[in-house]
Parts: sequence; C-alpha cells; structure tokens
Amino acid sequence: MLKVGLIGCGGIGAVHARCWLAMRDKVQMVAIADVSTERAQQFADMCGAKVYTDGFEMMKEEALDVVDICVPTFLHADYVIRAMEYVKNIIVEKPICLKEKEAQRLLDAREASGVLVQVGHVVRFMDAYRYLKEVASSGKYGKMIAGNFDSISPRPMWMKGHDDIDRTGTMALDMHIHDVDYIRYLMESEPEDMHSWAVRDKEGIVQHIWTSYRFGDALLTAEGSWDYPASLPFRQTFRVRMEKAAVVLDANGILTVYPEEGEKFVPQLGEKEEMDLGINVSDLGPYMNEIRYFVENIQAGVEGIASLSEAIASFRLVWKELELAGIVQNMTD
Ligand SMILES: NC(=O)c1ccc[n+]([C@@H]2O[C@H](COP(=O)([O-])OP(=O)(O)OC[C@H]3O[C@@H](n4cnc5c(N)ncnc54)[C@H](O)[C@@H]3O)[C@@H](O)[C@H]2O)c1
Repeated sequence: MLKVGLIGCGGIGAVHARCWLAMRDKVQMVAIADVSTERAQQFADMCGAKVYTDGFEMMKEEALDVVDICVPTFLHADYVIRAMEYVKNIIVEKPICLKEKEAQRLLDAREASGVLVQVGHVVRFMDAYRYLKEVASSGKYGKMIAGNFDSISPRPMWMKGHDDIDRTGTMALDMHIHDVDYIRYLMESEPEDMHSWAVRDKEGIVQHIWTSYRFGDALLTAEGSWDYPASLPFRQTFRVRMEKAAVVLDANGILTVYPEEGEKFVPQLGEKEEMDLGINVSDLGPYMNEIRYFVENIQAGVEGIASLSEAIASFRLVWKELELAGIVQNMTD
C-alpha cells in the first residue's frame, strides 16, 4: 500500500483526491495539508488522513511514498525541490514552474536526488488525444501534414491572480501550455522553426496567443485564449490532416476520423466519467488515467511520458513563444 500525502485542497486537489480514493486497493491517503485548516479537514474527513497546515512539516513527519502537490503555480518549484528531500515519488500540477532559474534548479535537484517526478500535463492522458497520438505514432494514416490545436476559455475569474505573470504565468503558461506540451509529445521533437503572435489587453497582459510550428514538412498551429465571453464555455479542440485521413476533435468533445477512403467514423473511446468537478473540466477519466499511470510507473521504477524534463521543455517552449511575440524580453526576466 503506497502512503500518499496531498498538499493543496483547492479545485484540482479535490479532483486528485477523488482519484486517490478510487484507488484504495493500492494507495492510502494518510496526510493532507493546506494553509486553510478548514479545507484540509474537509478532505481528511473523506479518508481519515491527518491534517497539516504546513506541507513541509507534513513531509518531514510522515513517511510518505508519494506526495501530490496541488498548490498554486508560483509555489510549484519550491515545493517540488523541498519534497525531493523527503519523498521518492512526486506528482505536481502543471505548469512545473514560472521562471527559467526555477527550471534549472529543478533539473539539478532531480539529477542529484533521482526522485520520480510526474507533472500534471493531463492532455497526454485524454482519450481523444491518446487516440491521435496512437494513430500518428503507428503511421496508420501516414505522415503528419498539418493541424491546429485550440484551447479557448472565458476569463477564469475563479482563479486568484489569473492575470499575474508571477502567480499563474497568465493564460500562456497556465492553459496554452497544455497544447504546447501535447504538440511536442505528438511530434516527438522540438519544432525546427516557429512564429508567435499575441494580443495584449489594455493592462499589457497577453490574452490571445497564436503560434505556428514547423516540424520537418509538417506545419502545426496552436491558439490559446481565455478572453472569450462568459457565454462561450471552455473548449479544447483539434483538427489534424495526415496523408490518409483527417482527425477532428470538435467543440462538443466528439472525435471523428475522416479517411481518404471510406466513410467518416467516430472511434470507440473510453466511457466518460462525467461529474461536477468544480473546475472547467467535467470528466474524471483523464485524471484517473494520469494518476493510475503514475502509480504503475512507481511500481515499475520508470519515469514515463509526463516527466519533469518533458514539462520543463514545454515550459521553455512557451517562454520562447512569449519572447517571439514580444511579451517578455528574455527567459531570465
Ligand atoms: N491539470 C489541470 O487540468 C488543472 C486544472 C486546474 C488547476 N491546475 C493547476 O493546479 C494548481 C492549483 O490550482 P487550483 O485551481 O486547484 O487552485 P486553488 O486556488 O483552487 O487551490 C490551491 C489550494 O492550495 C492551498 N495553498 C495555497 N498556498 C499553500 C501553501 N503554501 N501550502 C499549502 N496549501 C496552500 C490553498 O489554500 C488552496 O486550497 C495550479 O498550478 C493550476 O495551474 C491544473
């Protein structure tokens, strides 16, 4: 039985807690930390875990096998580096960090400690995106030619400091990074060439970003925005053209394959576990996939597809986009 401690009992912490609880046969949530005792207590009541108001004290006191870090983004790097002193397996929410100097410290600490770190780049674990990755890697529909990935949302007014580059990283590092990370994963390389444009609001904050990436002969684009009217709900979509088919995920979450030969069809994907998760996603499935995968990797002693170095490469690519779009001067800002 793996002993799990969770730090950060907000929106995503609640989603992770449900996943850990659903895996009671393999893991036990033994400790919960949040600066709000009330929130931590609510979580602890679900599983009988001990409550802490200080995550570092929790890691020092408890002999944890796993720590799950769901605190606000600006705290990720420090928490992960400190956690490496106490716990051998760390899962942390995305984005992994906000600054280049944090990225380098994280890589150095990981190298020195050998700890397993998985980062919550959950799009890699969404069924439609998994399907696309599978058909692209197998070559079933030939080579990638072109495609577009979008993440579009109204302003996340529920998120404290959502427009603060030093707290959330703004839309680019908080939300658009999901597509950036997936595109790197899909193409299994870094882009050879890229262009990026952004629209700022009157406070100078980036609210829309468009980037085009060239991977050999293939051209992909990604659009991110959380500046849409509240009446237009969050959507994540893609449209990809390969040599022998197009694959499209529409705004209703329907995945359709349009082959060169034969009729279009909707591939059979896993059942959605729809529920009110209190955040702008309603399907527990991808989070279950990512946490189950993390536990399997702990047991197998392997790093897996959502590693620290992968997350840092995605973070660095978003920063490069922000530089190309003239939003930041250089990565050490
Ligand atoms: N992968 C995804 O789909 C996804 C979705 C939402 C959020 N996230 C990420 O998860 C992280 C948290 O987001 P959220 O929406 O849950 O935020 P939130 O504000 O709802 O929750 C954060 C929690 O951390 C607690 N906290 C703050 N400082 C703390 C500290 N020093 N020690 C212990 N607890 C502390 C807060 O009291 C709060 O309960 C962010 O990095 C965000 O980018 C990822």
